[in-house]
Amino acid sequence: MTGQFSWWQDGVIYQIYPRSFADASGDGVGDLRGIAGRLDYLEWLGVDAVWLSPFYPSPMADFGYDISDYRGVDPLFGTLEDFDELLEEARRRGIRMVIDLVPNHTSDEHPWFAESRSSRDNPKRDWYVWHDPKPDGSPPNNWESVHGGGSCWKWDEKTRQYYLHTFQVEQPDLNWRNPRVREAMYDVMRFWLDRGVDGFRLDALSFCVKDDRLRDNPPNPGWKPGDPPWTRQIRLHSDDQPEMMDVVREMRAVADEYGGGRVLIGELYLPLERLIAYYGTDLDGVHLPFNFGLVDLAKWEPRAVGRLISAYETALPEGAWPNWVLGNHDQSRVATRLGEERARLAQMLLLTLRGTPTCYYGDEIGMQDVPVHQDLVQDPQGKLSPGHSRDPERSPMQWDASPNAGFCPPEADPWLPITGDYKEVNVEAQKEASRSVLSLFRRLVGLRREHPALISGSYEPLDPGDENVLAYQRSDGDSRALVVLNFGPRTARPRLPKRLAASGAKLLCSTDPERKSLVDADDLELGPYEGVLLST
Ligand code: GLC
Repeated sequence: MTGQFSWWQDGVIYQIYPRSFADASGDGVGDLRGIAGRLDYLEWLGVDAVWLSPFYPSPMADFGYDISDYRGVDPLFGTLEDFDELLEEARRRGIRMVIDLVPNHTSDEHPWFAESRSSRDNPKRDWYVWHDPKPDGSPPNNWESVHGGGSCWKWDEKTRQYYLHTFQVEQPDLNWRNPRVREAMYDVMRFWLDRGVDGFRLDALSFCVKDDRLRDNPPNPGWKPGDPPWTRQIRLHSDDQPEMMDVVREMRAVADEYGGGRVLIGELYLPLERLIAYYGTDLDGVHLPFNFGLVDLAKWEPRAVGRLISAYETALPEGAWPNWVLGNHDQSRVATRLGEERARLAQMLLLTLRGTPTCYYGDEIGMQDVPVHQDLVQDPQGKLSPGHSRDPERSPMQWDASPNAGFCPPEADPWLPITGDYKEVNVEAQKEASRSVLSLFRRLVGLRREHPALISGSYEPLDPGDENVLAYQRSDGDSRALVVLNFGPRTARPRLPKRLAASGAKLLCSTDPERKSLVDADDLELGPYEGVLLST
């Protein structure tokens, strides 16, 4: 944009879950050709990059996060040629492509694992984490699967050892202490970088290295029945080990072999002080450790959000680039968590904070979670841990009001149900409607391009004198933007600092499409759940 920033700094990233975006083959499951057919939409929307969740050959025990071949495309999603074409078509529109890399584990059907489990002296035995039982035959330690269902050790009768699976039984963990495993995975990265991808979202990154002595994890004293299974233990020894930093640096070196502009985004559900460690001591780690602060926030209220932003801004190492996220394929959708109106406000927040925003497909039209009855749950996590299914946030993209919402042909059977509101909540209807969340989202994406303060500007929290309001300024020299968000259900009259009001604020955008101008910048009145973006 200003030339000073890389695309992953000034751009907006859009996450596509391939099963659910667009189905060109008509089998009820999305595919790569379906995505290619919707690139015009993404160009129109103004996003700069797509992050594609896994499309590799997979038995689909975890819907593609169990990979049996890192260098191919599952026939369900198409072919490698389809991928190349998608990449080329995206590039023609100026859209970058980031793909998911799953380094922590493979599928149990990956040839590496087939070899590894074939005998104790197979050369690939040590590519995975195998261990003898305790003397009483029980698993080597107390670690529990992140997806639920108890121990993350699975007994292998043939070779009479346990193997480790941090997630599903069908997802054996690779042994990242083995240099051959590292090299093999770096070669996978080169395979895709050679094809022209712009970077990777690194799945479950912090799990790759485990404690060398496989010590027990302590229980989480705050855990109550019904809480997610992944919070039962404090993962002191099974996650975020010091040796991870070497791995991260090595991954970065591979990306850097291809020159600047190739991005690494880490999936890291860690406390802030640990999250930022993944930038690397000399910013030689991942470019963007995903910041899930807004997803994890227990209370959606201005003070909590303000504290979160300030804590994050303060913790960021010098030169590290921030990023923000409202949702993904593992989290209940933002419109369901917050409700329709507050979700609009959240989009304004996402797109005006300092740092790279990532938008989960469908959030730009305000899609809601789809209810899926427990008997019909598809998500393996939802089967192991009832109440924690991720199906609801993975429902098909709503393109139009036709049967199956334009996701797949009317006669096809979509792999997950479509939400009941799709006749109103769909791209076609919202494209034309100035009141729609889609119009708001697109306008904000466009404003980021026009106003350097929204990219390069510093973040300065302001005191609006109203506990329902969050206000901040972004400024870079003469370019200044002011964001004022009313989180409350009542009209608010925040006090803007006089110096700002005096400088003649101009309305750039409001979440309320009826608002045409500021009546009086000195005496701003915001409607319920209204947010405004002003230039000053
Ligand atoms: C990540 C993915 C999630 C998957 C898990 C195991 O958390 O986002 O969908 O189930 O890793 O690969």
